[in-house]
Amino acid sequence: MKKLSDLHQMKQAGNKISMVTAYDYPSAKQVEAAGIDMILVGDSLGMTVLGYDSTVDVTLDDMLHHSKAVRRGAPDTFVVVDMPFGTVGVDLATDLQNAAKLYQQSGANAVKVEGGHLTSFIQQATYLGIPVVAHLGLTPQSVGVMGYRMQGATKAGAERLIEDSKAVEKAGAVALVLEAVPSDLAEHISRQLDIPVIGIGAGKGTDGQVLVYHDMLNYGVERTAKFVKQYGDFSTGVAALKQYDDEVKSSAFPSEQYTYQKQIMDEVEK
Ligand code: KIV
Repeated sequence: MKKLSDLHQMKQAGNKISMVTAYDYPSAKQVEAAGIDMILVGDSLGMTVLGYDSTVDVTLDDMLHHSKAVRRGAPDTFVVVDMPFGTVGVDLATDLQNAAKLYQQSGANAVKVEGGHLTSFIQQATYLGIPVVAHLGLTPQSVGVMGYRMQGATKAGAERLIEDSKAVEKAGAVALVLEAVPSDLAEHISRQLDIPVIGIGAGKGTDGQVLVYHDMLNYGVERTAKFVKQYGDFSTGVAALKQYDDEVKSSAFPSEQYTYQKQIMDEVEK
C-alpha cells in the first residue's frame, strides 16, 4: 500500500498522483487492479449510487457502510473517506467524535473535510492521530450557498484560496483536494505547498488528479462537468439488459449451454 510518505515523495519527485472515487467492493477492486494511487470514498456517492440531488443527504452511516466495502475490495490502496454534510463544523468535540468514529470503523487511511474554516478541527484531529485531507475551491456540501461554480476566479477569491490553502497545510492537513479553480491558480498553490495537491477541474499543474468513477466511466450519469473525461462507457449495460429481457421473453435464454442436463425425472416416481 502507498503510505502518506510515498505520496509526499511522489510530489517531491514530480511524479503525478492518480486518485479515483469508489463506493463499493467491485469498483474498489477495479481501481486497485488498475494501480491507481489513491481511492476517495466521496460523498458524491449520494448522487452516483444513492440517487440524491446533492451530497447534503449523505450520512455518517452511509459513508461507513460504503467505505467498509471499499476497504474489502482494495486492501492495498490508500483510501480517503469524506466526512459528510453536518458531521464536521458543528462543535469541535462532536466533530472529533465523528472523525474518530469514521476513521476507526471505516478502515480508511484519512478523512476529508470541505472548507477553509476548519483549521481548528484539522489541528485537533491531527493531534488525535487522524490524518486529514482538506478540500477547497468548489466544495459540493456548500452547493446551497456557492452553487456549482468555478472558485477563485476573482483577485479576492484567488487570494482567499491561497491563504486558505496555506492555513490548512499549517494546521496539519496531509493533502489538499482543489476543485474547479483556474489552472494557473491551482498550479501556484501546488508549488507553494509541501503537501500533495490533487486537482479536479483545476488543470494539469497540480500534483495529481481525481475523477468520480461514475463520471469517467459513463455509468448512470446524465450530465458531467466540463472537466470530466470519459475513459469508458458502462452505459452499454442497458443494451445488454434489453437483450436479456428479449431473450427471457422469447425463451432464447437459458439455452442448453446454461442448463444442467441431468435427466433426473426419469428416476423420480411420478
Ligand atoms: O465526493 C467526491 O467525489 C469529491 C470529489 C469531487 C473530489 O469530493
